[in-house]
Amino acid sequence: MITSDQTAVLAGLGTCLPVGEEDNAALSERLDTSDSWIRERTGIAARRIAGPDVSMRDLAVAAGENALKAAGLAEVDAVVVATSTPDRPLPAAGPQVASSLGLGSVPAFDVSAACSGFIYALAVSAGLIGTGLAGDILMVASEKYSRAVDPADRATRVLFGDGAGAAVLRSGRRDERGAVLAVDWGSDGTGRDLIHWPGGQGGYLSMAGKRVYLKAIEHMTSSTLRVLDQCGWAISEVDTFVPHQANMRIIRAVAQQLSLPEDRAVCALERTGNTAGASIPLALAHGQANGTIRAGDRMVLTAFGAGLAWASAALVWPEINTVESEL
Ligand code: UT7
Repeated sequence: MITSDQTAVLAGLGTCLPVGEEDNAALSERLDTSDSWIRERTGIAARRIAGPDVSMRDLAVAAGENALKAAGLAEVDAVVVATSTPDRPLPAAGPQVASSLGLGSVPAFDVSAACSGFIYALAVSAGLIGTGLAGDILMVASEKYSRAVDPADRATRVLFGDGAGAAVLRSGRRDERGAVLAVDWGSDGTGRDLIHWPGGQGGYLSMAGKRVYLKAIEHMTSSTLRVLDQCGWAISEVDTFVPHQANMRIIRAVAQQLSLPEDRAVCALERTGNTAGASIPLALAHGQANGTIRAGDRMVLTAFGAGLAWASAALVWPEINTVESEL
């Protein structure tokens, strides 16, 4: 529960997607799958795949630079990078992103919460701002899942894509548009094997699809209800719902369980697939660009993924710029 009057306020948004697009037809030539299976089961038609010369950090730096441009800032007090596909286990990507952006010797670190990474980073950043430990923060969620999935595994290869999204947060008051009003977050380590990636020589990402599917619906629904309770909103008062973009059927099922009209849910996965931690900021940019997200909207963000970890946040959408680019 956020109790202080001083909180984080969203000041700018940036994204970066790799130029390489791989559609279902291209995947169907290599794997025992089909465009109709992928579309019907997931809603995904294509995903962006970064080439070997584009790293998770490259995407993070470009998205971060775009968010700083969008916010009109050249300096921040801290950098938080959310990623579950780091280029290297050590050191963290945060300091490299900060130095690549010329942000000096600010504190910079990583948050590892997979698909919930963006909202976890938002929660941590709101805490830092709320206590006065930082004023302006650049937070970036960047993923390169094409490194983690087995190119020959149709069960995961068709789902994931690469990309990055970033936000600049500034210090402000609860009654301002863009203020982070409420956060619900949680975890369940007993489900650690449902989605895992041993990395190194250990192999590729593996996911118990059906069980994760059911858990995703359960946790995104219950976490959304808790965050609504914290800010005293009824579900009917939510104008825009921005769920983690894993699967269109999951988004529909969560909307149905919440009795939320489906057209209030932003669905942005058709051409980007599941970009894990980056999926929420990419969906925000998508919604801003096509006008489904409007200033003044009461908004709930919610996510679920490996850990298991889930998180939700509530805010009123501000008048902000979004800068997007490709790499
Ligand atoms: O972002 C982190 C959180 N991740 C998620 O939330 C993902 C959650 N899970 C899902 O979205 C869905 O479970 C999937 C999209 C991964 C799978 O959909 P499903 O309806 O749960 O299918 P299934 O796993 O029950 O598989 C049904 C059939 C199986 O064949 P049999 O055993 O019935 O003969 C699979 O082998 O579909 C088969 N299958 C495929 N067929 C064609 C699995 N992947 C594919 C594929 N193309 N790509």
